[in-house]
Amino acid sequence: MEGYLDLYRRAENDPDAFWAEVAEREIHWFEKWSQVLDWKPPTARWFVGARTNVAYNCLDRHIATHRKNKVAILFEGEPGDQRFLTYQELHRLVVRFASVLKSRGYKAGDRAIVYMPMIPELPIAMLACARLGIIHSVVFGGFSAEALKARIQDLGATLVITADGGYRRGKEVKLKPAVDEALTECPSVRDVIVYKRTGSETIMQSGRDLWWHDLDQHATEDCPAVELDSEHPLYVLYTSGTTGKPKGILHTTGGYLTYITATMKWVFDLREEDTYWCSADIGWVTGHSYIVYGPLSAGATTVMYEGALDFPAFDRWWRVIEKYRINIFYTSPTAIRALIRQGDHWPDSHDLSSLRLLGSVGEPINPAAWEWYHRVIGKERCPIIDTWWQTETGGIMISPMPGAVAAKPGSGTLPMPGVIPDIVDLNGYEVGTDREGYLIIRRPWPSMARTIWGDPERFKEQYWTRVPGAYFTGDAARRDADGYFWILGRVDDVMNVSGHRLSTMEVESALVKHPAVAEAAVVGKPHEITGQAVCCFVTLKKGDWDHEKLGQDLRNWVAHEIGAFARPNEIRFTDALPKTRSGKIMRRLLREIVTNNTVAGDVTTLEDMSVVTKLASQHDED
Ligand code: WT7
Repeated sequence: MEGYLDLYRRAENDPDAFWAEVAEREIHWFEKWSQVLDWKPPTARWFVGARTNVAYNCLDRHIATHRKNKVAILFEGEPGDQRFLTYQELHRLVVRFASVLKSRGYKAGDRAIVYMPMIPELPIAMLACARLGIIHSVVFGGFSAEALKARIQDLGATLVITADGGYRRGKEVKLKPAVDEALTECPSVRDVIVYKRTGSETIMQSGRDLWWHDLDQHATEDCPAVELDSEHPLYVLYTSGTTGKPKGILHTTGGYLTYITATMKWVFDLREEDTYWCSADIGWVTGHSYIVYGPLSAGATTVMYEGALDFPAFDRWWRVIEKYRINIFYTSPTAIRALIRQGDHWPDSHDLSSLRLLGSVGEPINPAAWEWYHRVIGKERCPIIDTWWQTETGGIMISPMPGAVAAKPGSGTLPMPGVIPDIVDLNGYEVGTDREGYLIIRRPWPSMARTIWGDPERFKEQYWTRVPGAYFTGDAARRDADGYFWILGRVDDVMNVSGHRLSTMEVESALVKHPAVAEAAVVGKPHEITGQAVCCFVTLKKGDWDHEKLGQDLRNWVAHEIGAFARPNEIRFTDALPKTRSGKIMRRLLREIVTNNTVAGDVTTLEDMSVVTKLASQHDED
């Protein structure tokens, strides 16, 4: 604890000196900075004037050391195939693919969409882009063609990197057809590079689509990392906000790399001989920072698993941990809850004694899930690291440092060095011990989002205006007498479904595109496994509708518009939606209805109270 406090105080007292020291120790720079931080809220520039390259730090610098033949990526495919890519081999594959991109004319500042299954070629594509300064945006394979199209268009991408498909629950999930569908309205795209994973029949459009293995025939192994400015954009990752349009969160080079490399070591107590596994999908920020960039920059062995946790049975994860003697395991509360339901005999039939540390991310971990994770998986030996952070923060912000900070189940405990969180009321005043309020971050940190792609105004408005000069997280929290932080959940119209962020407005915009729908209001309903479930209230246009069939149609419609993970649990048809006098839908009331079936909160601004009574009673009749 003393060590942590000392580090924390040094960072607080002289952040520039602290981050300069970390950056110097953890990262290779081609050129040093003239200034650590240039901060003109909300614009931050970290390590001003410095030059570095993320791929160089993840690969080149390691192959000159004892890590040359260390496994960098340990891959297990869902069908059971495995690959062990050493740092040397990963470097070779990245250089070859980068040389292909370069020879096709792609260069620093161009934008590429990466839409792939969880196979090593996904990080290879990311690292090849990073090597040349091509800004990549990974789109989670579960997103639909519509969602993919919106991202390609918003980013103005000229290149799409994809695969024929991947494996999930024993079946092929095709990706290329979604790309074809998306590209009917994406004139910016010149090339589609397709990796052959499953070998199933794939239609290739001549003049546009290229097989990865064909291009590799002409690859070279001479393609040096470009010396990029510290603020050169590394990637854009789309996440849900409070409107129907996803936000392209921009992360840049030097600060991001410094922060995630440091937190990788602090939070996971990483040792040279560790085998580390984060079970997230690389399509989310967790995968970017703590499967790919953080672990590789730190020289770790990072495990990638392609498929579902229940394939072929509910012990797949425990099998993987036993097989590779995994030491550090990082997953989400929603997955833990899904596994608890299946019974202890699944983990109990495997030797999990290699585990040393367990991590959690994505939502608050409830006491029952914490207890099970601790007892059944960690055998009461392994600390549980509850890490709070966001797509926008780039890296872990609040988390115990194992060995130093004692855990309390359900609390993310204390902030990382250099992170100054606070809990405030609507006017920006600190609320004091044990009081609920808005979680903000008072000072800039190196891996903070730099902007929303193409929309700096929205960036400023969403994150930097509520409390001037401070970053507004959108989460509610409280701090206890020991200074520990307890995250209470979102304060905006953002749902958290299985640890995936989903905006109510995004689902609403999808619904109102359907010809039968007049209006829609969407809220998160508490759900035992997924945390929240998507619950939709829908009013229909005039017509003779078969509610049962239409309900099914609308669920599929949302899955098609956004992705299968967004498929609503419930569609409730109603004659009217509760609104304020100014016409705003009162989602708060709908939330109460789906949670308690009654409304107790303040309804003084409600236009038509009878609507609410009807919505609440409707469910009882069902
Ligand atoms: C939101 C961010 C960070 C990667 C995964 C999600 C919630 C995240 C925790 C935690 C309580 C958490 C917050 C946050 N959240 N981790 N340990 N305890 N809540 O990234 O999609 O950007 O979502 O997830 O509400 O704002 P994301």
